[in-house]
Amino acid sequence: MRSFLFVPADSEKKLAKGASSGADALILDLEDSVALSNKEAARKNAADFLKSADPHGPKLCVRMNALDTPLWKDDLKSVVAAAPHAILVPKTISGACIAKVAGHLTELEAEAGLRSDTIKLFCVATETAASMFNLNTYAGSSPRLFAMTWGAEDLAAALGARDNKDESGNYTGPYQMARTLTLLGAVAAGVIPLDSIYKDFRDEAGLELEARAAARDGFTAKMAIHPAQVPVINRVFTPSDEDLAHARAVIEIFEKAGDVGVVALDGVMLDIPHLKQARALLARAEAAKAIQ
Ligand code: COA
Ligand code: MG
Repeated sequence: MRSFLFVPADSEKKLAKGASSGADALILDLEDSVALSNKEAARKNAADFLKSADPHGPKLCVRMNALDTPLWKDDLKSVVAAAPHAILVPKTISGACIAKVAGHLTELEAEAGLRSDTIKLFCVATETAASMFNLNTYAGSSPRLFAMTWGAEDLAAALGARDNKDESGNYTGPYQMARTLTLLGAVAAGVIPLDSIYKDFRDEAGLELEARAAARDGFTAKMAIHPAQVPVINRVFTPSDEDLAHARAVIEIFEKAGDVGVVALDGVMLDIPHLKQARALLARAEAAKAIQ
């Protein structure tokens, strides 16, 4: 999965549009993009959409409200029976938050006659100051956990920041740290590192640069907030023919060299980490082909 498109679940029009956006996954949002007065309508729309969705369409996820609100249990209750692919938990403080939601899901799955652990979990793990100190606590929190992402908007609000980007449009220190620690925390937990949103949805070039930087660092997917962002994200996170050819060349030169730890290709030193990277890229491309 490369692209996860947020869709405010109180908008039937956007839900319909999301389904044909080409996103690998949709995140039906019950949280920040839905006004308090619309939460109940959003829950009902989300459940109806889940029940009537094309099984060959995008994977359907739901973002619940945060654990410190009185809303989250009713969010889960309204969608579990329709068996979403995953629940996105916002504003997690540590792996304990994932364990808490997982425990509640187990009860709801039993009530709905679903097998335990049917519904996966992922989280926005950097939305409060305290959460930033706990990004290494997610490993082993629940077998449901499959991805971790980060967010710069709520963190800026939590910090009382005036902005989260500098004059050149680059994230300032706290948000770069959130991004990096999420990447490290996700890899340490053995789950997908999922890059955050790019909120300037008319700026395709800016999105592409940010997505490329994320892919370069090790993120394998990115969230979107507008359908126009989906093709850009899908393109960037699909290994290019050039990348694949290079990976094959790396593997081939090691095979030809026999039992060695280091080789040269086009004047560049390659050792075991480069071989691992090449194999991982080809494995990812194979896995993507298998689900298409
Ligand atoms: N999912 C599905 N459809 C969307 C969409 C989304 N996230 N964002 C826009 N669309 C639809 C619009 O409804 C519109 O449909 P139409 O052509 O049938 O009228 C079309 O795509 C073009 O939209 P556009 O006019 O360019 O944008 P907008 O002003 O309608 O919407 C936002 C802008 C930011 C309000 C909208 O993109 C949005 O709601 N994004 C998601 C916000 C969110 O979920 N935030 C929480 C996570 S950070
Ligand atoms: Mg938010």
